[in-house]
Amino acid sequence: MSDSKVLKDQAHSAFSPLIRASYGDLGSEMRKVLPEAGRVMIVGDDHTVPLYAEEVSQALSAVCKEVHVYMLPSGEAHKQLRTVERLLVALEEMHFDRHDVVAALGGGVVGDLAGFAAAIYLRGISVIQIPTTLLAQVDSSIGGKTGVDLDGYKNMVGAFHLPALIYTNPSVLSTLDARQFAAGMGEVIKTALLKDSALFHALRASGEAVMRRESGALLQIVSACAEIKAGIVARDPKERGERALLNLGHTIGHAIEKYMSFSLLHGECVSIGLIAAAQMSAARGLLAADDVRLIRDTCLFYGLPVSVAGADAERIFDITKSDKKMKGGQIRFVLLKSIGEAFYTDDVTDEELRFGIRSVLEDGGIK
Ligand SMILES: NC(=O)c1ccc[n+]([C@@H]2O[C@H](COP(=O)([O-])OP(=O)(O)OC[C@H]3O[C@@H](n4cnc5c(N)ncnc54)[C@H](O)[C@@H]3O)[C@@H](O)[C@H]2O)c1
Repeated sequence: MSDSKVLKDQAHSAFSPLIRASYGDLGSEMRKVLPEAGRVMIVGDDHTVPLYAEEVSQALSAVCKEVHVYMLPSGEAHKQLRTVERLLVALEEMHFDRHDVVAALGGGVVGDLAGFAAAIYLRGISVIQIPTTLLAQVDSSIGGKTGVDLDGYKNMVGAFHLPALIYTNPSVLSTLDARQFAAGMGEVIKTALLKDSALFHALRASGEAVMRRESGALLQIVSACAEIKAGIVARDPKERGERALLNLGHTIGHAIEKYMSFSLLHGECVSIGLIAAAQMSAARGLLAADDVRLIRDTCLFYGLPVSVAGADAERIFDITKSDKKMKGGQIRFVLLKSIGEAFYTDDVTDEELRFGIRSVLEDGGIK
């Protein structure tokens, strides 16, 4: 066995990550799921490549003929078809074939871009996900959604392409900047609110340890969230039902993200969207006012925004209505029955939606 300390020897699959404290046994784990793998293209960005490509490359070199590294520019602005095209050309120039593998080393942007390139190159080659942000570890690396933005709309073009392996090493979160870490906490809080009230209360009880990024605390939240997401996507891989729950906070969150021209991070907008969904749930008499306050306080504790200033409520409403997750002109919205129990519904009215949006605008959205 390699020097990699096994943190949690959970059953892993195309859905569930393998969680480790180092990249020590990455090569042997990849070999188990991809015994024919010839060459690997590690795709990272200008932050993850300098930090971790060497270590990952060493782990994979032990089992692969050749290991190459391709560096993308970092940031959402580059989650575009032209970035994918450049990566596809690099794969083609190196004569990558169907036995070869793409390894996505980075956050959600790298995972989505590299996963999409792997989905369409030669009509699909294998990808392994090596998530390095909190958001990617608890969310985006799991479930096989890949893609890019188009014309200012998030994730408009893409494919479902399940990774052969998700290899998650929470120790790399130590180099993540505070704002990115907080944004990941937006998805963590969302996941707890959906399914796991004990996790939500643990986020409050062990808040200081999480903020100090203590390995035990990080392991607990990454494992718990990954397990919840993996369970949902394994039961509903193509989003026919339950998977829609993962959009809690995302409908209004996405609209605010677009309205703010992506100046706020995805997880920050999810946080604001969670508050809107909680307020709408309370207005229906489902969620207690105390619980709304608790959710708000938790987001604030982790350094997340819970409102936006100076925004136009009607414009955000229009953007929300043009969300691609609308069903037959009607928005599919996720609400909370309680902390730890969410449901989706197609009967949210325009009035409720406007109320939810206004509830997160500091001046009530009146211009
Ligand atoms: N596919 C899915 O199911 C899914 C789900 C949720 C979100 N997403 C997508 O994920 C993207 C957001 O992902 P993200 O929040 O990870 O952002 P990101 O990929 O842009 O990463 C954030 C920043 O952190 C840097 N970074 C990454 N790992 C680091 C590390 N360990 N140390 C230091 N710096 C590091 C990156 O270079 C980048 O600058 C969005 O495009 C969103 O649409 C996809």
